[in-house]
Amino acid sequence: MAAAGIVAGGTGSRMGGNMPKQFLDLCGKPVMVHTVERFLESPFISAVIVGVNPDWYDYMQGLIKQYFPEKVFLTKGGSDRNGTIVNIINYAKQELGMRDDEILVTHDAVRPFVTERMIEESIAALENCDICTAAVQATDTMVISSDGKNADDFPDRSLMYRVQTPQTFRMGGFISMLETVSPQMREKITDACRLFKMNGKTVRIICGEESNIKLTYPADFRMAEAIANL
Ligand code: CTP
Repeated sequence: MAAAGIVAGGTGSRMGGNMPKQFLDLCGKPVMVHTVERFLESPFISAVIVGVNPDWYDYMQGLIKQYFPEKVFLTKGGSDRNGTIVNIINYAKQELGMRDDEILVTHDAVRPFVTERMIEESIAALENCDICTAAVQATDTMVISSDGKNADDFPDRSLMYRVQTPQTFRMGGFISMLETVSPQMREKITDACRLFKMNGKTVRIICGEESNIKLTYPADFRMAEAIANL
């Protein structure tokens, strides 16, 4: 069995509004209620641990009471996304007694359309790798620009993927790897896979979905409503 670690420590500055985007309403329920429900439906997930922005801890506790009678636990988020994962791992080990070799399926609170297939495949993939991530092949032509004005290079699109979550790995190792990273480098490591790759670990891709969108800007909510009503 595995635990899900739902990262919800952000403030959603690009979305704006009077509350972080993970709490905004999507078809009658807060975004992150949809996300947590996807994991509770999975037979492979024994517990869901949410790492929430400390200012919204009490609010999230209220949502848990309202929507989830069991299996959902709460801890405080960190100052960056990886810090939130650290807090979730510490909670899993200290409060739930989970071991280093047990699996954590990390997922963005603001990706409410994760599927059962992705959760299952990401857990199964760990038999052959140290970490795996959902990703989809790029459909737009990609360009590298170091100054945001001039095109430096056009990489081969068929080799390019857009990384999503879930990102799945065993609990042990993540915290010690993160501790070796300098503060400047830590800003650039926005996901767990890059940290694992830097440490010589095997990183695999599992098939994501175009519908597994991350709600980032207001227009993404229109898209989310359309997906939810499919
Ligand atoms: N996240 C987190 N802890 C942080 C920062 C981000 O758990 N300290 C989470 C967010 O809550 C979100 C996910 O990481 O579920 C992806 O991050 P992003 O979309 O960038 O969310 P925000 O940081 O909230 O958005 P913004 O960058 O617009 O402020």
